[in-house]
Amino acid sequence: MSDDFITVAQVGDIPQGKGKSFEVGDRIIAIFNDGGNYRAIDDMCPHMGASLATGVLSQSEVACPWHGWRFDIRDGTWCDNRSLRTDVFKVRVQGDDIQVTATPVVDAKDQLDANRESENS
Ligand code: FES
Repeated sequence: MSDDFITVAQVGDIPQGKGKSFEVGDRIIAIFNDGGNYRAIDDMCPHMGASLATGVLSQSEVACPWHGWRFDIRDGTWCDNRSLRTDVFKVRVQGDDIQVTATPVVDAKDQLDANRESENS
C-alpha cells in the first residue's frame, strides 16, 4: 500500500527541540524536530485535549503543557504506562518539504519502520 504524504512545512519552520501542529485532513498532527529527526504524533492530548505540539520536549519525550503527561514521540507510548499510546504518523523530508501522512501507522512494527525511514531520509 502506498502512503499519501502531504507537505505541511519547510525545513527550518520547526526549530530543533520544538513542535508545531498542522491540520491534516480531519486530524491535527504535532510534528517535532527531535535533534534533526522529525516525529509526528496526534496533537491532541488524550487526557483533556491540550496541544502536545506546545509541550516541552526532552530526550524524545514531550510533556503535555496542561498536566504534564509525557509521551514518547518515537512510538507514541504514554511514558507512565507503556501499554497505552497515542497515534503516530509517518513523516519524511523531501528536498525542503516536511511531509506527513494523514493516516496513522497501525502497529508497533510500522512505527519502527516509519522512524527508520525518517532517520534515513
Ligand atoms: S491535557 Fe494533557 S495531561 Fe492533561
